[in-house]
Amino acid sequence: MSAKVTVSLIKADVGSLCGHHVVHPKQIEVAKEILENAKNEGKIIDYYVFNCGDDLELLMTHNRGENSPEIHELAWNTFLEVTEKVSKPLKLYGAGQDLLAESFSGNVKGLGPGVAEMEIRERESEPFIVFAADKTEPGAWNLPLYRMFADPMNSAGLTLSEKMTPGFVFRVLDVIEGKYIDLNCPEELYYLVSFIGTQGRFVIERVFTKEEREVAAVASTTRLRLIAGRYTGKDDPVLIVRVQHQFPATGEVLAAFIPPPLVSGAMRGSHRLPLMPVSLKDAKCTYWDGPPRCIALGFNLCEGKLVGLKGNEPADLFDDPAFDYARFKVMEISDYIRRQGEFEPARLPEEDLEYLGISKIREKLKERWFS
Ligand code: F6R
Ligand code: MG
Ligand code: MG
Repeated sequence: MSAKVTVSLIKADVGSLCGHHVVHPKQIEVAKEILENAKNEGKIIDYYVFNCGDDLELLMTHNRGENSPEIHELAWNTFLEVTEKVSKPLKLYGAGQDLLAESFSGNVKGLGPGVAEMEIRERESEPFIVFAADKTEPGAWNLPLYRMFADPMNSAGLTLSEKMTPGFVFRVLDVIEGKYIDLNCPEELYYLVSFIGTQGRFVIERVFTKEEREVAAVASTTRLRLIAGRYTGKDDPVLIVRVQHQFPATGEVLAAFIPPPLVSGAMRGSHRLPLMPVSLKDAKCTYWDGPPRCIALGFNLCEGKLVGLKGNEPADLFDDPAFDYARFKVMEISDYIRRQGEFEPARLPEEDLEYLGISKIREKLKERWFS
């Protein structure tokens, strides 16, 4: 049996160019230097640094398990150093914005950065996809994950492959109560949908197989606003999905992003727009700080090393004309929704707004109401 390996994807927005637009190449360079040193010291097996819009993403493989203080500290220190060496000297926008704690305390969860980690035994061949989104929240993965692992109209394997017909278990987190529930699908499909349709509160944290309890997908669930108690930027979640064999095929997993899910985020984190699947080069929000973007990077693991196309450069899976139509559709829908201006449901309900402007207006005018 192969040894266990952990895949950790830890991300943070530590400042960006031209507003909340895009990570600066120098930030990527500094992060790479730090992780290269960690690799040479044997702390990690391999790494890949990339960005999705203004979020700096550190993908690492190692043998230290999930929630390893060494790995979390490495990520935290990397974000700090990038902030000190690049974001602040260049006066990038929002320098260090997601580093909400004064200092590191054992685990980055609850300190600002987003984390998705899975400890696995490498299969004979271990293909997996790393997703990252910008200008949206963790609930954005709910619909695609449902389509991948519970909807036979999306994932043909759920009926055609006897390895998948038993179904999957969905672990859902209530971000308000901080509690989890495991739901077996397809048996408890209706219960699952009754929760995950409320995307701002119930988020899928992981999916696993029923008998072996083999992890299939893990998502980050950080809600920055709940940590900080004020607006700090959207959470911009990440997701790791293992593909093929007993899991959905690459094509089933990617198809789950069509039609584009409607998500919370975009301008001032306070609106709804569809999620646009894009290539790495287009992973940067422009129109109305949106539409929220999502990238999909394909790798294989080989003894813990990341195998990509050139060295560990991944397959840029949404870099494909097959997704042009979805992108066009996203703009068509965005244009329609934006014509609703600040009227719900284009704008989020008041309790979900990321800025305090409206509550300040309410407060200021409260004496002027009469009956
Ligand atoms: C959305 C987001 C942006 C900002 C907007 C204003 O998640 O981060 O839409 O909210 O660009 O940013 P500030 O308030 O920093 O000027
Ligand atoms: Mg930002
Ligand atoms: Mg972002």
